[in-house]
Amino acid sequence: MFAGVGYPAASVLLGLFLLVIVIRRRYLSPIADIPGPFFASFSVLWQLWAIVKGDIQLRSIELHRKHGHFVRIGHEEVSVCHPDAVRKILLTPLRKADWYKVMALPDHRFQTPMSEVDPKRRVERAKNVAAGYALSHIIKSEPFIDSAISLLCNRLAELGQSKQPVEFDKWFNYMAFDVIGEVTFSRAFGFLESGRDVGGSIANTRVLTLYVTLAGFFLNLHNWTMGNPILSKLGLMPQQHIFDTTLGAIQTRQKNPDVRNDMLSLWMQQLKEYPDRFKEQDMYGVVNATVGAGADTISATLQAFVYYMLRSPGCISRLRKEIDAAGTESGKPVSYAIARQLPYLQACLKETWRFHTPVAFGLARIVPEQGLTIGDRYFKSGTKLSVNQWVIHRSTELFGADADTFNPDRWLGEKGQAIEQYYIPFGAGYNSCPGRNLANLEVSKAAATLVRDFDVRQVDPKQNWQYEAHFTAVPYGWPCYIKRREFTTEQTL
Ligand code: HEM
Repeated sequence: MFAGVGYPAASVLLGLFLLVIVIRRRYLSPIADIPGPFFASFSVLWQLWAIVKGDIQLRSIELHRKHGHFVRIGHEEVSVCHPDAVRKILLTPLRKADWYKVMALPDHRFQTPMSEVDPKRRVERAKNVAAGYALSHIIKSEPFIDSAISLLCNRLAELGQSKQPVEFDKWFNYMAFDVIGEVTFSRAFGFLESGRDVGGSIANTRVLTLYVTLAGFFLNLHNWTMGNPILSKLGLMPQQHIFDTTLGAIQTRQKNPDVRNDMLSLWMQQLKEYPDRFKEQDMYGVVNATVGAGADTISATLQAFVYYMLRSPGCISRLRKEIDAAGTESGKPVSYAIARQLPYLQACLKETWRFHTPVAFGLARIVPEQGLTIGDRYFKSGTKLSVNQWVIHRSTELFGADADTFNPDRWLGEKGQAIEQYYIPFGAGYNSCPGRNLANLEVSKAAATLVRDFDVRQVDPKQNWQYEAHFTAVPYGWPCYIKRREFTTEQTL
């Protein structure tokens, strides 16, 4: 290695070099006084480990309960849980952390609003595609979303009849992928129809999400290896799979005579009208992001909804009464026009999103040149500050002493309005989720229809399902028996 020095001496030099880095980061950093896990004081090891374990959100909550408003979760990152956190970090257009750059998939040529870290440029990029996510546009796909929900119900009923336990993790993912296919390309991917993970997409998406979450910490390495355009062409990367799926769907769509005014049609129109600011690669990037972000978030939400309903018998009977009284058309999925007007249903969904936010990872922003003060703490320019949705949503300071209790009633009346400012399942500010209209529509309809039409019982009612977060690689199954609505036991939905 070092000519004439020899391996032992080189190892000593390397060891000393690392020691200096550790000491500088741990003791001489401007955030050295902020408490947190030991490994976080000089590296990103704590974050990596917590992400792989899949419980970063729970660990972060614990750390904030122990240390207060600020926790050092990386050598240059502070997690913030403070009444001003949402306003000062997310609602202020601060530059996003470089981690987001990894969201150009499959490689850096495919930039998206998510991968753009500069607030102004991000907003410009988002303008190109905003019309596709608007509720006025999404609502036109409602009949096709209905087909997917009906097919899901039929599949669940079949499983119920044959007395086979249902894995909601699987079936809600199938539905969500098919819905995204309908809304984006005028065609379901065929998950519900075939009753299987077509082409291993769901398994691949899980690997991809975990990979991306970790790779964002090692951008240079990622750009040279998995995110390298030459390597990505070989199709070996986890991100290649989703790209192939969307590319295939776009090509199939071109041959589909029944193609509708779907998201893609709006984006293709943008390509023609604004070729200087919206290019084909940008469009592919956005399609990838939409397919990648719009399925397991929905699946995790619906699973959480069913799970917390099973554990809240009072809620379920009240919800059923509300839906039954709404005069929905039986045999058809509940319309969004009705579902969105049901106050208790909407309160249950809000509480589900508060209690079990699909994204478990902190949203990180960079302190601007002039610095930033939160509470009595000043942060220097360049510090990474992140807001973890789970931490905020479970804060007793922000949501009250019962923050750890699933209680939809907190959203009704004036007290519901007061906590609205801390409710951030879709993020907040210029980088918030563009898919929230579709999410609200799809989840409201599916949840109302399931409650109206099915009884559900966990195979093992004592089995706890702790978390299913956006990036978890391991599905946490909790099988249930399901039946078209007739029977009731103590623990049914
Ligand atoms: C349960 C439902 C969902 C939740 C809780 C959720 C939440 C989020 C969050 C927290 C972000 C990142 C915000 C940030 O980093 O600051 C995000 C981004 C994103 N979401 Fe969602 N999402 C959901 C459903 C959807 C759906 C259905 C779609 C597709 C239509 C979608 C498309 C996207 C896209 C494309 C981005 C990248 C954002 C960008 O333009 O920068 N999401 N989502």
